[in-house]
Amino acid sequence: MEKVIVIDFGGQYNQLVARRVRECNVYCEIYSYRTPLEKIKEMDPKGIILTGGPSSCYEEGAATCSPELFELGVPVLGLCYGAQLMSHVLGGKVERADFREYGKTELEVDTKSALFGGEGSSLPYALSLQKVNAKTSCWMSHFDYISKLAPGFTSVAHTSSTPVAAMEDVSRNLYGIQFHPEVLHTPEGSKMLYNFVRGICGCKGDWRMDTFVRDSIESIRKKVGNGKVLLALSGGVDSSVAAALLSHAIGKQLTCVFVDHGLLRKNEGDEVEAVFGKGGRFDLNFVRVNAAERYYIKLAGVDEPERKRKIIGEEFIRVFEEEAKKIGAVDFLAQGTIYPDVVESGLGGESAVIKSHHNVGGLPEHVDFKEIIEPLRDLFKDEVRKVGLELGIPAELVFRQPFPGPGLGVRILGDITAEKVKMTQDADAIYREEVAKAAEEWKKENLSGRFGESKEGLSVDELFSREHEFNPLWMPDQYFAALTNVRSVGVMGDERTYDYAIALRAVKTVDFMTAEAADIPFEVLQTVMSRIINEVRGVNRVFYDLTSKPPGTIEME
Ligand code: XMP
Repeated sequence: MEKVIVIDFGGQYNQLVARRVRECNVYCEIYSYRTPLEKIKEMDPKGIILTGGPSSCYEEGAATCSPELFELGVPVLGLCYGAQLMSHVLGGKVERADFREYGKTELEVDTKSALFGGEGSSLPYALSLQKVNAKTSCWMSHFDYISKLAPGFTSVAHTSSTPVAAMEDVSRNLYGIQFHPEVLHTPEGSKMLYNFVRGICGCKGDWRMDTFVRDSIESIRKKVGNGKVLLALSGGVDSSVAAALLSHAIGKQLTCVFVDHGLLRKNEGDEVEAVFGKGGRFDLNFVRVNAAERYYIKLAGVDEPERKRKIIGEEFIRVFEEEAKKIGAVDFLAQGTIYPDVVESGLGGESAVIKSHHNVGGLPEHVDFKEIIEPLRDLFKDEVRKVGLELGIPAELVFRQPFPGPGLGVRILGDITAEKVKMTQDADAIYREEVAKAAEEWKKENLSGRFGESKEGLSVDELFSREHEFNPLWMPDQYFAALTNVRSVGVMGDERTYDYAIALRAVKTVDFMTAEAADIPFEVLQTVMSRIINEVRGVNRVFYDLTSKPPGTIEME
């Protein structure tokens, strides 16, 4: 399969670069800049992209690359730090500017360059290029700048303060871009990446999810043979899609254990069972363990957040192991690991993020299996969603928002009781119902033709766009109701109440590392508030959380 390699210098948008390349239907993988040149050669990439990074390339000890990387005969595109490094290594000059250039910036491009879709380029693939406007805008974030081009290069774009906003040496197929084409603030950036991977590198664009499904079903069959596979199904997107894929490949050789810890959202356990259990649409063995009571007993009186997380994680492993023991030895333990997990655990690129507290509790120790199987290991989240749609998982499940492993355990501030779980579930269900309703109304008004009507009859790609991309601007990326530990006085009818306050949280975010409160229309919030107070017993007040991250987090515990 054709592959582009993204070499990671530790910048913050590195996964985004890889995602954008994949959106051009080109497969790519992220590797650290420390990866030996020999290994890169062996991978036989069709193109190489050098990412941004936090260092200054001229400083001692800065992340660097070998000049031979530019002599492989493979097209190279440097982005931000990558472009500076390319200049530095090949004999140009990079210096510190007086001011940091940061933010959205007007850009003038030389439209003859292949990067910007130029017809003048002598590429064999020129036909597939996408035109960029001569005047456009871009997202800049740099202190250093290229003050002298390396021999052989010409500048092909500039801004008022950056003479070399993009550069090329066509004879060697080397390109550099000072800004960030991968972020949405560079509206025509995707075209530039497309022009590089599809035009300059000549990739055919054969990375498609329907082909992925076909190929992985075949490779799972080959790997598993007659073996047995065990999967812990959480009902989240990743494990659900893994279950569906394995079910298509090996049917009843797969057993899914679904632990309902009593901290799921309202009706969620039944919804998961309806899809994957008996009478559902997948051929597999489904075991649901209703462990709520066990959890509530363990959690009684515990109010320290990390302790709650730990109990929930440990108890999960214990329940899962008990079920696994009933099943006996299996050959494979399946996991819904996805590509960002691989990269963030430090195996892919440079930007290892410590996520350990987000894991449900690691691998079970007492399950008898020979090997791990991770069918989604190469996919980004949106690719996992497309695979899910290809496999016939209902859109509601595929576009489920992220839900933490400890579930409502971290959305009930303080100690957990069955009553508090019910209040949180009911309030949250009302909130989700009303927001979904408002978004659906917006779609009916604002999307044209078939798109606006409903999701029926749409292709996988169309459905993906309708559910995921064509949303009102205020549509949060994650939202939920949390139960505060605050009780306050209220009046209901003629009576005084002394009840709990619900906090509504809703955030806009791209990577969940930073986030802002979403601007949900006030009338939607009012409807949610009045329904919660009228319908949820024990709640007499509703707050809306305006905090961004940082300084806040998305969850409240
Ligand atoms: P925070 O609260 O850290 O959340 O801003 C960032 C994202 O991670 C999710 N999250 C968790 N996921 N176990 C998980 O599996 C956890 O303990 C956990 N805590 C937060 C959160 O929902 C958000 O999407």
